[in-house]
Amino acid sequence: MNKEWWKKSVVYQIYPKSFKDSNNDGIGDIQGIISQLDYLKELGIDVIWLSPIYQSPMIDNGYDISDYQAIHPDYGTMADFENLLKEAHQRSIKIVMDLVVNHTSDEHKWFKEAVKSADNPYHNYYIWRDKPTNFGSLFSGSAWTYQSSVKQYYLHTFSSKQADLNWDYQPLREEIYKMMRWWLDKGIDGFRMDVISLISKKYPLTDGIVHENNVFGDITPFIANGPNVHRYLQEMNEKVLSHYPIMTIGECPCVNAQQALDYVDSNRHELNMIFTFDHVSLDNDCNGKWNTKKTSLIDLKKTLNKWQSSLSNQGWNTLYLSNHDQPRSASRFGNETALSAKCLALTLHFMKGTPFIYQGEELGMTNICFNDISECQDIEAINAYRELVTEEHLFSHEEMMKNINAKARDHARTPMQWNNDQYSGFSHTFPWLKVNPNYQSINTKIQLNDQESVFHFYQKLIKIRHDYQIITDGDYCPLFEDHPDLFAYRRCYQNAEIIILANWSEKVIDYDMDLSNYRILLANSNSIIKNHLNAYEAVAYYK
Ligand code: GLC
Ligand code: CA
Repeated sequence: MNKEWWKKSVVYQIYPKSFKDSNNDGIGDIQGIISQLDYLKELGIDVIWLSPIYQSPMIDNGYDISDYQAIHPDYGTMADFENLLKEAHQRSIKIVMDLVVNHTSDEHKWFKEAVKSADNPYHNYYIWRDKPTNFGSLFSGSAWTYQSSVKQYYLHTFSSKQADLNWDYQPLREEIYKMMRWWLDKGIDGFRMDVISLISKKYPLTDGIVHENNVFGDITPFIANGPNVHRYLQEMNEKVLSHYPIMTIGECPCVNAQQALDYVDSNRHELNMIFTFDHVSLDNDCNGKWNTKKTSLIDLKKTLNKWQSSLSNQGWNTLYLSNHDQPRSASRFGNETALSAKCLALTLHFMKGTPFIYQGEELGMTNICFNDISECQDIEAINAYRELVTEEHLFSHEEMMKNINAKARDHARTPMQWNNDQYSGFSHTFPWLKVNPNYQSINTKIQLNDQESVFHFYQKLIKIRHDYQIITDGDYCPLFEDHPDLFAYRRCYQNAEIIILANWSEKVIDYDMDLSNYRILLANSNSIIKNHLNAYEAVAYYK
């Protein structure tokens, strides 16, 4: 096996709670995933990234783990998981697991020990202070919670039920490496590492800057890219990762394109690739994500192009527009039509890097309309509503619902749309989060029967990536960088060339370019003519 097999792979992210419910309790599960492996095989993907399926109180849908080596009963059993791994491998599909080790649930046995007394051996697994700083948690409120049993505050970057681990304590690191080996020895094919750029804290922890419109101080300078993050990743690589033929992806908030190289330069022996937040934060403002601002295409191109050039020689990029934390890309960057979904897909999948498809993206699934905060399930949105509307009166109810309808994470988490049956064929029971009513027109059953569907377009994109080495290895060169609506670039490899021209708008675009020796490799419309693109038309030319 080629050591760098992940360079030619396409990854499909499954959010297990929303994918497929096999026992009709309204919650997706492992048997449900197994039942759809043939569907994924038909799509053509190489790897599944499974969002967490571990034992958890589920306040952040499993990103709050109480036992790293047990499966949450809602999802099934360890035997079900082993079966999933076997069934996937039989179809040549690899499985990458989520690794959430910046924090554990406060219901993890380590934390339960840690709060017994300050001299308990597990106390040092977490981060304690006698007095809190002004840090705000990324899920609203203070990042410190008082624990009366030890008369100290513990740090939590996310909710108070997600206590940050103390990576500076070597026994903790060894426990995590042991747990990782245990999973790898089961035969899994890699890890997607949750907020891994946050594991090393920068001491001393003092008050953070209070930005405009904020009550709390900014925690991020104290947690992101901390002084030991690379030492720990190299240690993890040496002790664990390097012994297995796997794929590693770090989720890296607050890491820019320059700093990224330190994580993914192969000579440094850390990770294969990271997820950047740069291109999905362009529509943030002083209230963070809570607004209805649209990303300008020029900014988006600038950001993606910068990442392409920064990691062009050493390192490797991830390519994504959607995941379980982001609104649906067809709504955010497109106009919710199938044509626009294909346009975004074509633009992304011809870039250099490993593409990630988020469940339902291959159908062009869209955002939903939440009428009230009571319809949302996500802790981030619920806490933000309470803080920004009820407590601080920064937004009216109407304004905040508009923000939620633009940006909430729940848009990505509505049940997968399988067919026209009630609850979209996801379940026979009312699911944990409501189904998008557009399942009647957007679902796999319809799309599998339609050669022109978004699904079949993704299938073609994946096949082309597998067949053309230029997509993996070719140089990337941006074109028309200042054009407000046209996303364009060239890939070059040996004597071959691909030119991508994609109209990310509803306007008509005329552009000037000599394409006389090129043929169409793939397009999202049958009416493409040279030097002209109608709304959301996109084409890959090849020579
Ligand atoms: C990551 C996950 C997100 C989670 C957070 C805390 O950003 O993708 O879903 O809420 O980390 O674990
Ligand atoms: Ca179920």
